[in-house]
Amino acid sequence: MKVWVTGAEGILGSALQKALRGKNIPFVASARRHADVTDGESIEAFYRRKGPFTHLIHCAAYTKVDRAESEPEEAWIVNAQAPEELGRLAAREGMRMLHISTDYVFDGISSTPYTETDLLKPASIYGKTKAEGEARLLNVLPDACIIRTSWLFGPIGRNFVSTMLDLMRSREMVRVVSDQRGRPTYAPDLAEALIDALDWKGVYHIANTGQTSWYAFALAIRASARSKGILLSCYSVEPISSIEFDAVAPRPRFSVLDTTKADRERGKPLRFWKESLKECLSIYA
Ligand SMILES: NC(=O)c1ccc[n+]([C@@H]2O[C@H](COP(=O)([O-])OP(=O)(O)OC[C@H]3O[C@@H](n4cnc5c(N)ncnc54)[C@H](OP(=O)(O)O)[C@@H]3O)[C@@H](O)[C@H]2O)c1
Repeated sequence: MKVWVTGAEGILGSALQKALRGKNIPFVASARRHADVTDGESIEAFYRRKGPFTHLIHCAAYTKVDRAESEPEEAWIVNAQAPEELGRLAAREGMRMLHISTDYVFDGISSTPYTETDLLKPASIYGKTKAEGEARLLNVLPDACIIRTSWLFGPIGRNFVSTMLDLMRSREMVRVVSDQRGRPTYAPDLAEALIDALDWKGVYHIANTGQTSWYAFALAIRASARSKGILLSCYSVEPISSIEFDAVAPRPRFSVLDTTKADRERGKPLRFWKESLKECLSIYA
């Protein structure tokens, strides 16, 4: 077995390398400078240099949800075309491929958790490009595995926890959206689950247990940070609506993923997100 991980320097790609190392699974991880996933020659050259691989876990993506609204072509090339290109390579070389997707492929109108078979109806450019990437990949590699996850946070990379900590260290008051609900997912926990999923086929949802709002997530970050002795100047976290916050890209009001299928396959769910948050903050402390 030899695994290729793209997105080596991202939130998930970095956690995945640690998890693979912990399990003594041979792998090679590529960042953009090693293999630009939008450049066919670059990925072929990387494969020739470092391959062959038995598995590809594709974590690289264009993840700037707001910026994608003004850079749709770039988001499209990375999120829609690259998975298809990599899928063709995987089909030709007989590599299994795990592709990471997002809760933002759903419209958020539902009031019950989204299952793998629910209709994709993304509201944002980012969501549309990710939905198109899923479809294109399955078209060229029907045996691929697509893992949708949500609200990723972790000890490395820019994410909600690091952003909140920065704001809470520098400001006395922070306003956070309270009318969007989802399932925070700790990258190291997802990474462990991805290793279990190496030979899965089809679409799965994986997220930590429990759902919350960004506002309640922020409150939990502040409480956990304080309990770890992290100094914060923020004395007030205020809830605001999505309309007041006025983000550039529309986001689903409710993007809670139903993870029953993956939980059953693995024989257990991921732990409760607040447990993982505590672990994450001890690394920041
Ligand atoms: N973050 C979330 O909340 C979230 C939620 C649900 C699903 N997801 C999905 O989970 C996966 C992992 O996300 P993440 O949060 O780990 O993302 P991330 O931290 O933004 O990392 C993505 C990585 O992809 C790299 N990349 C972008 N374009 C590339 C290219 N053309 N060639 C090679 N590398 C390229 C980026 O490198 P550069 O820095 O050089 O651009 C970055 O290191 C993605 O598929 C994402 O859509 C994320």
